[in-house]
Amino acid sequence: MKIALVGSGYVGLVAGACFAELGHDVVLVDNDESKVAALKRGECPIHEKFLPELLERHRGRRLDFTSNLPEAVRRSQLIFIAVGTPPKEDGDADLSYVESVARGIAGAIDSYKVIVEKSTVPVYTNTWIRKVMLLNGAPAELFDVASNPEFLREGAAVADFLYPDRIVVGADSDRAADMVAEAYRPLVDGSYYKKTDAIPGPLAGPFMARLIRTSAKSAELIKHASNAFLAMKISFVNAVSSVCEAVGADVEQVCEGLGSDSRIGRRFLCPGIGYGGSCFPKDLLAFRAVARESGCSFGLLNEVSNVNEEQRNRFLRKVKRALWTLKGKKLAVLGLAFKNGTDDIRESPAMAIVKSLLKEGCSITAYDPAAMAHAAEELSSAVKFAGDPYEAMRGADACLVLTEWEDFAALDLTRVKRLLRYPILLDGRNLFRPAQMEAAGLNYYSVGRPDVVGERRTTPRKPSSTEQIKTPLTDAVNKDRAA
Ligand code: UGA
Repeated sequence: MKIALVGSGYVGLVAGACFAELGHDVVLVDNDESKVAALKRGECPIHEKFLPELLERHRGRRLDFTSNLPEAVRRSQLIFIAVGTPPKEDGDADLSYVESVARGIAGAIDSYKVIVEKSTVPVYTNTWIRKVMLLNGAPAELFDVASNPEFLREGAAVADFLYPDRIVVGADSDRAADMVAEAYRPLVDGSYYKKTDAIPGPLAGPFMARLIRTSAKSAELIKHASNAFLAMKISFVNAVSSVCEAVGADVEQVCEGLGSDSRIGRRFLCPGIGYGGSCFPKDLLAFRAVARESGCSFGLLNEVSNVNEEQRNRFLRKVKRALWTLKGKKLAVLGLAFKNGTDDIRESPAMAIVKSLLKEGCSITAYDPAAMAHAAEELSSAVKFAGDPYEAMRGADACLVLTEWEDFAALDLTRVKRLLRYPILLDGRNLFRPAQMEAAGLNYYSVGRPDVVGERRTTPRKPSSTEQIKTPLTDAVNKDRAA
């Protein structure tokens, strides 16, 4: 099929490269000419596993880049809109980029096309795109509008696209739904997975993607409801972790029991310093605005945000509890990205914590495997950057782990202890086991688990029963973290 992707940000770029991988002729459109030129030169603007390989594999063959929207529209059957929908002051999504793309498509349309919204948008966007197209002269018989939300996670975006839990196609016309479904056929009939050079998936064995057909409005709501539910799961476990701390229970044990109920599930129950990124915070606000405007009260969403905010404050209080005063303290910070596997620092809880600590008068040496260049643009010169985690720790009063990069979990703890001025490690992502830290002689503060402080053993001891728990459920969590 001939496909145009308008907007070559995260979603557009990944979807464009993956559609080319599925055998379609793809043109990626962006009004940022320097970005288009960089893509044409073979640069990959984001840190994403398998994306450079896919761009390299298809560039100049099935994948082209342009700033010329009308030309891209004329040569395509499916036109995906994947431009940004940032939040406005009131939390509502700003759809002005979507509107302007719809106007551009309307002016160029010359044969039947399906316009597919892929950006995360509020319900009724589909209807609005149709209205805007008609108002701008597009003949009604030459187009349909469909919704095909994207569920990919940064850091695992290519694998999420090619091995999806589900593909949602929302359309109010069969013709449009059939055309969008056709674009995904190699995933749904499983033929893609039989290719010898297929991108490897997270699962072993045969795979066939599930495609769900819905109305356009239902598809729009599925995306917002999914992200809100996932954010709620994280806030729920974070609130449980606070209760665990208050009563002296261990949140990892609680989650093992809680997540073993197949109705609840173990994934997305990792406590920490809260969720961040360009999706959950923005989508929660937008979904709340949708509910408000439709006259529905959805106070639960407020609480999800409140718990998330409070989780950062709780961690800061923990730093104060471990170090007493903060002014003049020298801290090593491991992790700045909003999660592992990405260089993205948007709404990163790690960045928020670093900024609060700077205000308290701390000096910080930070290390992140991917996000330091972006972080340097946002942080004052009071933050120094290290070449590796150990360099960040040299002479620091404490070490803070703020992003769940798996490399951090493999640190040599003897070396950590030797490098730190005081043997204090605060783990905002529960990457380590308390007994491991006790054995290493480190004072250890994590989330929802008892602190390890004071008298410590110097020889390793037998792991406690919690640490011996290793089940497929624990593996599922590790998979989330590793993704
Ligand atoms: C999220 C959704 O997971 C995707 O399905 C969705 O497509 C995407 O938003 C989007 O709307 O575009 P993403 O923002 O890439 O994906 O990141 P997640 O892996 O969902 O993590 C979000 C945040 O939650 C991170 O800060 C992460 O550290 C945190 N998190 C995640 C936890 O604190 N605990 C967990 O158990 C899981």
